Amino acid sequence: MYLDFYGFVENPFNITSDPSFLYLSQTHKNAFDHLLFGINERKGFILLTGEIGAGKTTLCKALLYHLPQTTKTSFVFNSNLPEGQLFEAILGDFGILPKRRNKISFLKQLNSFLLHELSLGNNAALIIDEAQNLRASTLEFIRMLSNFETEKEKLIQIVLSGQPELRDKLEAANLSQLKQRISVRSHLSALTVSDVGQYIDYRIWKAQPSKSVVFTPDAVDLIYTYSGGIPRLINIACDKALLCGFVLDTTVIDHAVAQRSIEELSGISHPAMV
Ligand SMILES: Nc1ncnc2c1ncn2[C@@H]1O[C@H](COP(=O)(O)OP(=O)(O)OP(=O)(O)O)[C@@H](O)[C@H]1O
Ligand SMILES: [Mg+2]
Repeated sequence: MYLDFYGFVENPFNITSDPSFLYLSQTHKNAFDHLLFGINERKGFILLTGEIGAGKTTLCKALLYHLPQTTKTSFVFNSNLPEGQLFEAILGDFGILPKRRNKISFLKQLNSFLLHELSLGNNAALIIDEAQNLRASTLEFIRMLSNFETEKEKLIQIVLSGQPELRDKLEAANLSQLKQRISVRSHLSALTVSDVGQYIDYRIWKAQPSKSVVFTPDAVDLIYTYSGGIPRLINIACDKALLCGFVLDTTVIDHAVAQRSIEELSGISHPAMV
């Protein structure tokens, strides 16, 4: 592997959603601030959308580390779960042992948990990732959770995070009540070309190379064009470029190295590089 060649402690361009590598570009910072504001100010429903691979899951995971200890959290990664298992997962994250597998029991247990937390001065946040996969009936049921409130405040803040089709889903007539209740919204857009350079430098720095590893500005331009500023695609291109650099025995990823790696990714083979 190329990790030893560059002396990296970690893989700089892993495609897992690792929040310790979070780079706060303007769009990520803006979305992150909206999420924190919505939860801390008890705004009820909060919507986070973004293109595939834009950083939604990474941002939601980072959020868990930034919320105050007094905010109890439940993070649903798998929105494809059948309803019963979804409810169990939510209760389980909040540290509640489910009594029965039905909606009424779920609502009762959740309500008494939320009231108890409120009496302690605590807040609660439910973060549902990949929310574009939720069935309309599940979304409608989740809307009912926001009815847990006192005269003054919401007992549970619910973040719906998903790809742009989530917004389309919420436009459907049968979900208009939910749509109306969303008070905080943000959208992760693609990174700008200058962000891409800083994003690459940041991830390399985090991986602690023992040598100087450089992506030249024209290599960054190529990676920007290839990726359209989408972080997952940037990672894939950079990972390939570092592999090419290793094969060519260089720690400088210049235009030629970046071009070869992108051509390889696009299926154009270079015998010398295989
Ligand atoms: N702001 C960022 N800083 C550092 N890495 C990021 C950032 N945004 C995204 N990434 C990286 O890009 C990759 C894709 O991110 P992530 O999985 O969070 O995207 P997503 O929007 O949840 O994608 P999907 O729509 O497929 O669920 C991950 O490797 C992640 O670490
Ligand atoms: Mg995701």
